[in-house]
Amino acid sequence: MNILAIETSCDETSAAVLSENNGVVEVVSNIVSSQIDIHKEYGGVVPEIAARHHVKNITPVIMESLETANMKPVDFDFIAVTSGPGLITSLIVGVEAAKSLGVAWNKPVMEINHMYAHLAANFLNNKINFPAIALVVSGGHTELILIEDYNQFKKIGQTVDDAAGEAFDKVAKLLDLGYPGGPIVSKRAMAGDVKRFALPRPMQGSGDFNFSFSGLKTAVLYKLKEIDLQNEQDVNDMCASFEQAVVDVLIKKTIAAAKKFGAKTVFMAGGVAANKKLRQELEAAVKEQSLDFFVPEFQYCTDNAGMIAIAAYYLAKEKMPTMDNWQKIKADPNWELE
Ligand code: KG4
Ligand code: ZN
Repeated sequence: MNILAIETSCDETSAAVLSENNGVVEVVSNIVSSQIDIHKEYGGVVPEIAARHHVKNITPVIMESLETANMKPVDFDFIAVTSGPGLITSLIVGVEAAKSLGVAWNKPVMEINHMYAHLAANFLNNKINFPAIALVVSGGHTELILIEDYNQFKKIGQTVDDAAGEAFDKVAKLLDLGYPGGPIVSKRAMAGDVKRFALPRPMQGSGDFNFSFSGLKTAVLYKLKEIDLQNEQDVNDMCASFEQAVVDVLIKKTIAAAKKFGAKTVFMAGGVAANKKLRQELEAAVKEQSLDFFVPEFQYCTDNAGMIAIAAYYLAKEKMPTMDNWQKIKADPNWELE
């Protein structure tokens, strides 16, 4: 089976090719054109600008993906594309490209839920023991998902305000460190003292599986008003103290959910899953419970079309899209409605 996948939900224009031969699944190309440098100067993604760059990049990115994989349109079984959630002006570019290619090449198109794809990145050539608990942490989402099978999942908790990645981005802004904040804050944190500043662990003992990160950001703001950070080490210590607070809450709730739902496996997904401290400490906590732990390779953590292709493959194994049914097949359109 060969799949062409397209992702344009935020500020990355991406196209990937996945091939399956005799049960061996491989992402043979995963081209990502990032706009981070363009949005950096605004301190966040500007939807209008993102959409215009998707329009400019979408065709070259798709062509490069085909060339890298050494494939022609005729080789594909179908096209997969992110249809939500995301910035609507960005999503439209990818969806329209996929649908146009579908008509031109006479191929079915499968719509994929972006958050499901972040999760599905863990499925690639791994033997998964269900049920699993997935911690999905990105710039827009912080969710705990109960997964009972490849395409059976239910949201059991989420942030009530800011997402974890958003908190990293906002704290980076407060510290004047640039955008996106996650990679910068975590790099500075490596040289910092996690115990230097006492910060809260919001909702850690709330008894449910929801999160809140906006108070933590405000706590950092108050600390900055109280203490004048004098040097680079002070900034590193603030980054380390903040990162530890986020990691502690995420781990505590994920392990509590795994216990409550009798999970055999714990996954992590989304851009914040690239965070080394979170990867290491969550893995240690999961292994302590004798459960399986999976986190995608770095290249499949932040937004990319490879994960869209992987999600499409697992859905197609259940039901292959055809020219007659493709409008109906999509990965859980109700994800946001639960
Ligand atoms: O999944 P993603 O690429 O895009 C969304 O769908 O949101 O996630 C981007 C988010 C940003 O907020 C970024 O700051 C955060 O992931 N991020 C990190 C790290 N790398 C990216 N957060 C913490 N530590 C990192 N190493
Ligand atoms: Zn994402």
